[in-house]
Amino acid sequence: MANQHKTVLVSGGTGYIGSHTAVELINAGYDVVIIDNLVNSEIYSLDGIEKITGKRPAFEKVDTCDMGALRRVFEKYAFDSVIHFAAHKAVGESMDEPLKYYSNNLVSFMNTVELMKEFGRPNVLFSSSATVYGNADTQPVTEQTPRKPAESPYGNTKQIAEDILRDCTRAYRGLHGIALRYFNPIGAHPSALIGELPRGVPNNLVPYITQTAAGIRKELSIFGDDYDTPDGTCLRDFIDIVDLAKAHVATIDRMTQGKMEQDYEIFNVGTGRPVSVLELVKGFERVNNLKLPYRITGRRQGDIPAVWADTTRANEVLGWKAERSLDDTLRAAWAWQQHLGK
Ligand code: WQD
Repeated sequence: MANQHKTVLVSGGTGYIGSHTAVELINAGYDVVIIDNLVNSEIYSLDGIEKITGKRPAFEKVDTCDMGALRRVFEKYAFDSVIHFAAHKAVGESMDEPLKYYSNNLVSFMNTVELMKEFGRPNVLFSSSATVYGNADTQPVTEQTPRKPAESPYGNTKQIAEDILRDCTRAYRGLHGIALRYFNPIGAHPSALIGELPRGVPNNLVPYITQTAAGIRKELSIFGDDYDTPDGTCLRDFIDIVDLAKAHVATIDRMTQGKMEQDYEIFNVGTGRPVSVLELVKGFERVNNLKLPYRITGRRQGDIPAVWADTTRANEVLGWKAERSLDDTLRAAWAWQQHLGK
């Protein structure tokens, strides 16, 4: 019989961050129940999770926007904690189809919080994003850095969901929430058994790099080298996906061990180190011993010149720190792409 305290519901658990988090939760001794509607992920992620951990998580194909189906999950499984990943995540698409983003990302989250409250399940971990900081006035950003008005409906859903969680934890006794603000998650599990599965042409830098290296894309466009940064390309805080997954375990530990100091808390999850786009490209070439065809093109609309995390709070309060080197992360990213090609 599963232990309710040690069971975590992971919505969006077959996706990129969800599947890596499921692995680390299982490795840490938690029982994992995954729900996913599989619109942007594959069921065979479960095979990867099982191969890595030796345990297959329980799985239900459920759309978290479907309150009835979600309620049945709450009736069937006893868990104290939920990690809510289930969301659409393409910034550009959210500009063209805002309603798709507002309705999916917010309804699914509100349904989840509502049922947590109704069933008296205490812990909600929300998957937020550094995108909430927008183009901040100072770098690195701390959790206190004021959020800027969101530049996309996607970013706005992250801000609104954070506010929903804050308000609900304030209003409903016994409900606790933590928002993790991810910087730029990259890489794959070192086993190359799970990783990111972008559909169509990738928008994000690292999948575009690995697909270019694999010959699927002709060349990488580097969007602008005239920013006010050391080499003119944008600066980002690239966080290894396994390190990021471990931050979720530290967060769930904190919640289940009753260590929270407030009913709603926020943590930045990054490395604390800015890396330029060009540095990343060159690092990828070096560690994987290959040449990447690339060209400098114009700036991409909406990109901010630089954002990186102050991770002091996560380091000190959560007791979590990014550990994997960028070289290892870039090797894992390529190993995963090669695995996909087989
Ligand atoms: C990184 C850098 C590009 C592609 C976005 C979302 C954020 C989060 C992660 C997730 C930028 C440059 C990129 C390419 C390039 N969302 N680039 N050529 O924009 O920092 O963050 O993804 O679900 O909320 O906003 O990430 O990987 O798209 O870009 O030169 O082909 O790489 O200009 O400077 P971004 P990214």
